[in-house]
Amino acid sequence: MKDIAINSKIENYVVHIGKGILDDMSRFVVPNKQYVLISDSGIPSIYRDKIMSQLKRVYSLVFPQGEQHKSLSEYERIVELLVENNIDKNAVIIALGGGVTGDLAGFVASTYLRGIPYIQIPTTLLAQIDSSVGGKVAVNVGKTKNVIGSIYPPKIVLIDPNTLITLPARHMANGMAEMIKYGMIADERLFSDIRDNQVYDDIEPFISRCVEIKKRFVEADEMDADVRQALNFGHTIGHAIEAYYNFDKYLHGEAVAIGMTRILKNTAIKNELTTVLKKYGLPTEDPVDIERLLTIIEKDKKTRDGVLHYVDIPNIGTFEIKRFDHWLSNEEGD
Ligand SMILES: NC(=O)c1ccc[n+]([C@@H]2O[C@H](COP(=O)([O-])OP(=O)(O)OC[C@H]3O[C@@H](n4cnc5c(N)ncnc54)[C@H](O)[C@@H]3O)[C@@H](O)[C@H]2O)c1
Repeated sequence: MKDIAINSKIENYVVHIGKGILDDMSRFVVPNKQYVLISDSGIPSIYRDKIMSQLKRVYSLVFPQGEQHKSLSEYERIVELLVENNIDKNAVIIALGGGVTGDLAGFVASTYLRGIPYIQIPTTLLAQIDSSVGGKVAVNVGKTKNVIGSIYPPKIVLIDPNTLITLPARHMANGMAEMIKYGMIADERLFSDIRDNQVYDDIEPFISRCVEIKKRFVEADEMDADVRQALNFGHTIGHAIEAYYNFDKYLHGEAVAIGMTRILKNTAIKNELTTVLKKYGLPTEDPVDIERLLTIIEKDKKTRDGVLHYVDIPNIGTFEIKRFDHWLSNEEGD
């Protein structure tokens, strides 16, 4: 069991990581409190049942799985159910699931009755190493991702790596893309350990190392004004690829894997990266050319005060934030 404290300008919280943590939650729950367990239809019911059996007062709410349900209409439906069931300000929401559940349930928590507490129980690798930590919660509007949201830290995060046993291989690889990203931007040793070992054989320490890295970025820049943007390595092109294919062809991590490879100009570093991505079954290229992605990328630009940046990797384990228009003019000159 590992506990990692996250210092937040809003409210500090602890990420508890340990196999079997969900089998005994007595340390983390209050006996007579009202809980609202929010999960999606793809989460195996064993996890829901396990949690519910340990709570006296719990209302369980299941929404349809999939990114398209991280939406305003699903948000409204959930809020209506909370009102109908007289859920008051003292209740605690539990977000059980992947990043979609965490983002949607967290956004409900951040706004319902002007904010009620919530607990993150991430059950995908991506959510365990990334989305459950840092307090970013959001819903999509149409095809524009995370356009309405806030930064609203959870009370606690409970990570049980045993939940990954049921996670499909493609979703494990999806999370690996973000783990590899952490190695690339912040930790050369993590990158080489991912390369030289089979992460799945003993994943818990790798999850902890990623949470430690996310902690560093979140604590340095919780509101996402500067260094936290390093976590977007590969995401400028990755997001555009996801959107270009209408979010049908690639999972987020798969698109980021292509985005990370595409943005790098240093051949040696690019080769190192593609070797590791391939080891975990991730794609490294896609035939769509940059011109086709530019209109989508341009849209990103509007949200960032006119200048779009991207993350470059001068050496594995370090990053530099640079102007995307410079990358593009080099590209055109190549
Ligand atoms: N808030 C943040 O900081 C942040 C960071 C990165 C990504 N995100 C968001 O995360 C979302 C993607 O998250 P995701 O990749 O976890 O996808 P997801 O939440 O859609 O989960 C993937 C699928 O796995 C199923 N599932 C979840 N846990 C399972 C388990 N243990 N066993 C079997 N099936 C399981 C789900 O039902 C779903 O169908 C995106 O919306 C993205 O924008 C948020």
